[in-house]
Amino acid sequence: MWKFNFQAPTQITFGWGSLDQLNKVVGDYKKILVICGKTSAKKTGLLERLLVLLAGKTVVVCSDISPNPRVSEINNAANMGADEGVELVIGIGGGSAMDAAKATAAAIGGNKPVEYFLRNDLTAPEETLPILAIPTTAGTGSETSMGSIVSDEEMKEKKGLRGIALLPKFAIVDPELSLTVPKHVTAETGFDIFTHAMETFISVKASAMTKMYSIKAIEAVLDYLPVVVNNLLDREARTELSFASMLMGYNLMHAGTCLPHRLQYPLGAHTDCSHPGGLVALYPAWCRNTASYAKEKFDTIAQLFEDRGYSSEKGSGGEYVADYFLDFFERIGISTSISKLGLPRETLEILPDEVSGSLATDPGNTTREGLLKIYVESW
Ligand SMILES: [Fe+2]
Repeated sequence: MWKFNFQAPTQITFGWGSLDQLNKVVGDYKKILVICGKTSAKKTGLLERLLVLLAGKTVVVCSDISPNPRVSEINNAANMGADEGVELVIGIGGGSAMDAAKATAAAIGGNKPVEYFLRNDLTAPEETLPILAIPTTAGTGSETSMGSIVSDEEMKEKKGLRGIALLPKFAIVDPELSLTVPKHVTAETGFDIFTHAMETFISVKASAMTKMYSIKAIEAVLDYLPVVVNNLLDREARTELSFASMLMGYNLMHAGTCLPHRLQYPLGAHTDCSHPGGLVALYPAWCRNTASYAKEKFDTIAQLFEDRGYSSEKGSGGEYVADYFLDFFERIGISTSISKLGLPRETLEILPDEVSGSLATDPGNTTREGLLKIYVESW
């Protein structure tokens, strides 16, 4: 527990209104590629504001990124950036825009189409261009993590590109930018923070450092997510959630997630549900099936729920964490099951075979049977 390596090299500018410091953060970089999603950065006027703040620089904008960034979109952005000889890639938006910026920086710097790295299971090249991440939602932690999830349309799979080179050189975390996030997305992305905190806490790779951050993030979500869901303009709550999300980027990189994040990907591929939407469906069953393998840690989480007035109808303590979740989901107005996501019962049988990535961080039953049991109970 007390032996760990930890690195947090991203230069962070945090705080309400901190986007105004963009020009100072960008410094001497003169040619910049800006990557954002198709609608919200334009609709909210954020893209325009960004361009004003970057006046005097050569800026190429690629605003063609879908919610699950695709190989073709990354390569298109990389070609635009390479043609202009850009020196810095800015990703502004939710996790998809930041992930797309990271993958694009790798493709330009490595001078290869992004699928070259994905299909050969290579880490991002050393030559990856520097990245500036600007999150507009509180959830993915992509601004401080070294992962980028990309959909490979041709291979019909979602893959993670990873590597130290993908760690953003800079991040501007301005909670004010999350004010325009609608209620349901706020609730779901806020729950994603919780899952990062809980899974990196339960992970067998958790360290004293990451556990401290996990507890801070769990407390922040339990205290402030119900507040912000009821008042989307609450500054204090938005700030706490942006902070917790940023901390969890560090945890994702150092401790890794557990089964729910692995099990969610096949669900997403079959139903097109959102990332947190799939996690909501899986969480109660994963907790019920895993609590006995990490009793002390589940007890700690149960206590965090208890201390904040959440209740479980069945009893108190780690084995009932699944039931505290039901109370929590009600307070933030989300709930689902795999059947509600539209997946037929018989499809469950094939899902365990489609699970990819390492299961070694999860302390529970990670056999095929164990995975199927969670899917069935989540149906
Ligand atoms: Fe997540």
